[in-house]
Amino acid sequence: MKVTVCGAAGGIGQALSLLLKTQLPAGSELSLYDVAPVVPGVAVDLSHIPTEVTVEGFGADSLDAALADADIVLIPAGMPRKPGMDRADLFAVNAGIIKTLAEGIVANCPKALVGVITNPVNGTVPIVAEVFKKAGTYDPARVFGITTLDVIRSEAFVAELKGLDSTQVKVPVIGGHSGTTILPLLSQVEGVEFSDDEIAALTPRIQNAGTEVVNAKAGGGSATLSMGAAAARFCMSLVKGLQGQDVVDYAYVEGNGEDAQFFAQPVRLGVNGVAELLPYGALSAFEEDAKNAMLATLKADIQEGIDFMA
Ligand code: 2OP
Repeated sequence: MKVTVCGAAGGIGQALSLLLKTQLPAGSELSLYDVAPVVPGVAVDLSHIPTEVTVEGFGADSLDAALADADIVLIPAGMPRKPGMDRADLFAVNAGIIKTLAEGIVANCPKALVGVITNPVNGTVPIVAEVFKKAGTYDPARVFGITTLDVIRSEAFVAELKGLDSTQVKVPVIGGHSGTTILPLLSQVEGVEFSDDEIAALTPRIQNAGTEVVNAKAGGGSATLSMGAAAARFCMSLVKGLQGQDVVDYAYVEGNGEDAQFFAQPVRLGVNGVAELLPYGALSAFEEDAKNAMLATLKADIQEGIDFMA
């Protein structure tokens, strides 16, 4: 198993790489790419952790070597938010970065499963898809926007509110990865009842949780540690799928287009990425309204990515 992290020296990339060094199956290869000159040092640092995962760092001129024959590519590269910024404000800078990296994947590992973290995820995933389409290598089953941070935040907040063991709480989250496009399905949390007031307070808290971190870091960036944990968790789902295990997880994928061309939903993972698109089930009236209200925003975010490539 070769896993390449593009943007490995950044805040998310370092946290993610640390977790992968300790969690990937024995015999795996962890390839760290970054334009920041510190990346070989990050690789040396991680290599001192005694696990059966080899680590190698690749600098700005070595994207091809970093990506060569990767099974999974995770992309946290790009600029994070500062207070007052929306994820959409990052588009101008991050669109070009994601395009370059996607072109590198086409050239070096066109069969890899690709997990996009770079914001705005709603628009950067369509850019990856368009790059792959242009090259004739697009397989929608292999391209994912990682929305696991919305899932783990929901688990943490529900557990905190209800005094539950957070490791036992499961919260489906559908839609996209920005503001109102993030839709936690609180009506589907097993064994937990919420009052209307709780739903009205918890839903926007989950939707704005990224901004909560941005404001708390006061100019020092956005979520890195929780995002690293979320991306590592999703990567391990991809790994289990590649190993032939039956695994279901949530991700932002190109599905059947019923709601929008790209939509976060449950998927069954397998040796070729998405093995089956799963339905997200019945929504409460509140969730149905929230879903319908967010679709225009989500579709505009997707279109921005497609237009960038056109
Ligand atoms: C977040 O939700 C960084 O997009 C990430 O905080």
